[in-house]
This record gives sequence, C-alpha cells and structure tokens, in this order.
Amino acid sequence: MKLCVALDLPSRDECLGLASELKGLDLWLKVGMRAFYRDGLDFICELKKISDFKIFLDLKLYDIPNTMSDAAAELCKAGVDMINIHASAGAVAMRAVMERIASEKNRPLVLAVSALTSFDESGFSDIYHTNIESAVRSMSLLSKESGLDGMVCSAFESKMIKEHCGDDFITLCPGIRPVLRGETSSQDDQSRVAGVSFAKSHKADFIVVGRPIYKASNPKNAVKEILSQF
Ligand code: C5P
Repeated sequence: MKLCVALDLPSRDECLGLASELKGLDLWLKVGMRAFYRDGLDFICELKKISDFKIFLDLKLYDIPNTMSDAAAELCKAGVDMINIHASAGAVAMRAVMERIASEKNRPLVLAVSALTSFDESGFSDIYHTNIESAVRSMSLLSKESGLDGMVCSAFESKMIKEHCGDDFITLCPGIRPVLRGETSSQDDQSRVAGVSFAKSHKADFIVVGRPIYKASNPKNAVKEILSQF
C-alpha cells in the first residue's frame, strides 16, 4: 500500500513547502482541482524540481467522449504518473480515453472514480437510484472492461472490487481518517471514512490523506506516523 498526500492547501507556496518537507519519504503526491486550477502545469514542474515524486493528477474528467479523450491526451503531456476520469461518463467515453492515450510514451495509470467518499447511501441514491455497493461493483466491471487500470473508491468497496476485477486492478481510497497522536480526528465533509489498517486489510493499493496531514501540528510527523501504521 502507498500513501498519497493531497496537496489541497490554500496557496501554491504552502503546497510546495509541504512537498519540500516530505522529500525523501516513500509516498505519492496528489494534485487536485484547487492547486491545478490555481497554479496549472507549472506547479507540477515545480514539484518535480523538488524531488522525483510520483504524482497523481486528480481532475476527475467527466464530459462527452471526444472532449474527455482530448483532455486526457493533454494531461499526458504533464508527465504525471496517474490521472482519473468518472466511470459514470460511461463505457464509450472510458474506451475513447484509453484508445486515445494507448500510444503515449509513459502513459499514466488511469483510474475511474466510482462513488465519491462524501456520499452516504441516501445522498447517493438521490442521484443514482441504487445502493453504493452494487453501483460500485458495476462501475468497476465496466471500467475494467473498458481498459482502465483501477478505481477510486472508499475502503469499504476495495476488497469487493478486487474479488470481481482481480487483485491487479488498482484501488485508491480517499476518505481515510488515521488515528494520530495529539490530533483530534474529524470526518470533515467525508461520509464513508475508514482507518489506515482497515484500508490495508481491505487490500487498498493507495490511501489518500489530505486534511489530517496538512492541518496537523506537524505534517511531516503525521506522515511518518501514518507510514508506521502500514
Ligand atoms: O482532506 P481529505 O483527506 O478528505 O482529502 C481527500 C482528497 O481526496 C481530496 O483531495 C478529495 O478531492 C479527494 N477525493 C475524495 N473522494 C473521492 C475522490 C477524491 O475525497 N472519491
């Protein structure tokens, strides 16, 4: 299992400062909408100057197939290691993305977003009219058939995805709330939250942690403590 630290801080300098502090640790960095919309591709270049971090660009593409595949091809130019698209864009869009970037040198891993970890059953059912487990199961099978590399899901669905799609189909789990010495834990806006050992025992390949790290009194110690729980 790998730790992916979400760089969702309020400014470019704070994100770069945290990345510098974390240099040398065995982790991935996640660049999400906040940092990318604000600081763009240049920010990714700056991160790479700090260290040869593995980078997950979490922009959750969701559009018509042609627009998604064009956008994915542009993202390949960023030289990142992983990107993601929404499974609910459908099989045609997912296949279009994978076909479009198949010949890219150093193609990034492509994950499909299933049910956001901020959804509880009732909020999810209002939109999708089904329960989370069966929706995530069918989204995962469709994503696998469409050639994707894995899923973004909560830790509660990780094992089930592996059972249906195979152990090599990646699961990346946000909504992780580690127990950290001297810190009070908050769910924030997440609903389906799990701890580090739960995610590990449910076969998560990656856990994503943001606020519990960058809001901790000592973010580097928080990261080290999380890694010690692996
Ligand atoms: O601060 P926190 O640990 O809740 O951050 C979780 C990160 O993972 C955020 O950057 C959020 O955008 C992202 N994410 C998520 N749920 C998903 C997909 C991504 O929380 N399903």
